[in-house]
Amino acid sequence: MTIDLSVSPVRMVDPTRREVNVSKLMDLRKPTVKITEDVPEALQANVDELGREFEVVWEPIPNSSQELAINTRAHHTLYHGARGPGKTITQLMRFRMRVGIGYGAYWRGIVFDREFKHLGDLVAQSKRFFPQFEDGCLWMNSASEYKWKWPTGEELLFRHVKSLDHYDSFHGHEYPFIGWNELTKHPTLELYDKFMSVNRSSFSPEKHTPRTKVNNKYVYQTADGKPLPPIPLEVFSTTNPNGPGHNAVKKRFIDPGRNGEIVKREIKYFDAIAGEEVCVTRTQVAIFGSFFENRYLDPVYRAGLIEACAHDPHLHAAWVQGDWSVNSGGALDDLWENTIHIVPQFKVPKDWRVDRSFDWGSTHPFATVWWAEANGEEVTMEDGSIWCPQRGSHRLSPLWMSHLGGPG
Ligand SMILES: Nc1ncnc2c1ncn2[C@@H]1O[C@H](COP(=O)(O)OP(=O)(O)O)[C@@H](O)[C@H]1O
Ligand SMILES: [Mg+2]
Repeated sequence: MTIDLSVSPVRMVDPTRREVNVSKLMDLRKPTVKITEDVPEALQANVDELGREFEVVWEPIPNSSQELAINTRAHHTLYHGARGPGKTITQLMRFRMRVGIGYGAYWRGIVFDREFKHLGDLVAQSKRFFPQFEDGCLWMNSASEYKWKWPTGEELLFRHVKSLDHYDSFHGHEYPFIGWNELTKHPTLELYDKFMSVNRSSFSPEKHTPRTKVNNKYVYQTADGKPLPPIPLEVFSTTNPNGPGHNAVKKRFIDPGRNGEIVKREIKYFDAIAGEEVCVTRTQVAIFGSFFENRYLDPVYRAGLIEACAHDPHLHAAWVQGDWSVNSGGALDDLWENTIHIVPQFKVPKDWRVDRSFDWGSTHPFATVWWAEANGEEVTMEDGSIWCPQRGSHRLSPLWMSHLGGPG
């Protein structure tokens, strides 16, 4: 059996082969009352194909990367580049555009950041735009909620996660929409991958599309009277090319294809219910954005950003140019493989030479490192296996370093 979750850049096709025009599903507008002549043009209502008046609350900047990012039709989207093209607001609207179209409580989203305080920008921007739709959305500010809730049942949560054990409190949840804010803040993609297990939906179009009974027959309450398309499962991340996860994100999202290219990955597994091997094609895409595209940005902000990076070419490349070719600063970052470079603990033979090195870290954390130099002698590992590292090669033992920054 082959399941192809890939979708063409132009239209999305649902499993019943009905073509779905996703732009018609977007609900980034609000119905208006009668418009009078003296209302400024920008505030005048548009009329949709059914003759209803509406006012656009938010739309992607025309001919910009936002237009691509808002509707990539890929399972995984990385919206990356400089600071300021509108990555965060596009992430929020990507969730918001499927609110109020009938998915109700099945349309649930969660946006993660590594630090609670960094969720503030997402919350502030959503507070600026979401209430403008006048759809009764409610911001719930308590630490346990910290989410938007719509009267129709949809929810968008904001959470901070840092380590793998944070996942435990989400186990078993269902979030068809997952957002990662500033993905390179995470040193690896371990959390990203682990949270894929909650990127799921139990929405069944035939059963759960809103419907009423007329003359003993169900009638779907949709514009075309048909069930809604299946809920898309999507992960939408934003980031600059900077930070501890620079190389991990580059390797996963930037290197495999050009910007805008849908990259497919095949995942095979044995489906116990179907009793056969299943091959699922997952899609991913990277979209590049430049702050020169964003007409809402104050030129003073642009100038300030350029000035802030004037003395740091790496930062300039990352924040102003969105350039991934600069390294994040870790000398071994692009060579390091945990499976190759980390060996299980073993007892260092007493004849091996042990050295110690030390860095004061006057502007960075300090570090003390112990090195064991192999002399050709075999070692017995904890599982009983024998290992003979090359003579003269060095093993680094667990190190001691300050993690607070500043002089150690
Ligand atoms: N299409 C848009 N409509 C209205 N405001 C926008 C739009 N795109 C971006 N902005 C505004 O531009 C500013 C920068 O956007 P933001 O999403 O924070 O950028 P980034 O996350 O890429 O740094 C924000 O104030 C945002 O609300
Ligand atoms: Mg942002």
